[in-house]
Amino acid sequence: MRFFTFGITSFAVAVAVAIATPVTVEVDLTSVLDVDLAETNAFGAPLAPWMSGSRPGWYYGNHPERYPYLWCLKGWLCKLLWWFPHVIQCPKPPHFPPKPPTSDGYTQTFRNLTGATQASDYLTYGLVDTIKDCKTMCNSVSGCKFVNTYNDVNGKDGSTKLTCSLYTKCHTSSDATNTGGQTQPDGSVNFIRNSDGWCKK
Ligand SMILES: *[C@@H]1O[C@H](CO)[C@@H](O)[C@H](O)[C@H]1NC(C)=O
Repeated sequence: MRFFTFGITSFAVAVAVAIATPVTVEVDLTSVLDVDLAETNAFGAPLAPWMSGSRPGWYYGNHPERYPYLWCLKGWLCKLLWWFPHVIQCPKPPHFPPKPPTSDGYTQTFRNLTGATQASDYLTYGLVDTIKDCKTMCNSVSGCKFVNTYNDVNGKDGSTKLTCSLYTKCHTSSDATNTGGQTQPDGSVNFIRNSDGWCKK
C-alpha cells in the first residue's frame, strides 16, 4: 500500500514537471531504422536504378517476407514515419466504399519495353507488387509526376518482381535507356523486361 502511494505521487510530480518545462526529444530515425529514408537521400535509394551498387529504398506491398532487407511501408512503421514529415510516407489507405471505377489519373506513355527510364529528375525507387501500388506510391510522394515499372531480371537483391521508380517529370520511350548490363556479385548480368511508363495528368 505504501509503495502504491509512492508510485502515484511520483507520477503526479512527473506530470507537473512535464507541463512546466516542455522537453524536446530528438529522435534520430536513421539510427533507429538503420537506413536514411529522408527526401534528401532519395527516400532511401540515393543511387538511381542505373547506377552501380544501387538498391531499392523501400517496399510497398503485401509480401514483406519476400524482401526481409527492405522496410515495408505498411503497419506500425507508417505510424513511426508519420512523425518525420521529410521521410518517405506510407500511402493512405483508400476510403471505402470505393467510388465507381474512373480514371486513376495516369496516362500510359510506353509499354513492355526492355529499357527502364534514366533521367535526372529521379526521385526514388523501391519494390511493389503491382503497377497500381506504384501509382499509389507516386501519389504519396510530393512532386511525383511519373512512374516507371519494370522487372529487373537478375537485378540487385532479387528485385525481379516489380521495380517502381519515380520521377518529377513525364517521360516517353526515348528516355527508357537503362537496359541493364550491370554485373551482379554472383556474376549474372541484369536486364530489363516489361518496362511501362505512366504519366500523371
Ligand atoms: C512484351 O514483349 C516481349 C518481347 O520483348 C514479348 O515476348 C511479350 O509477349 C510482350 N508482352 C506483352 C504483354 O505484350
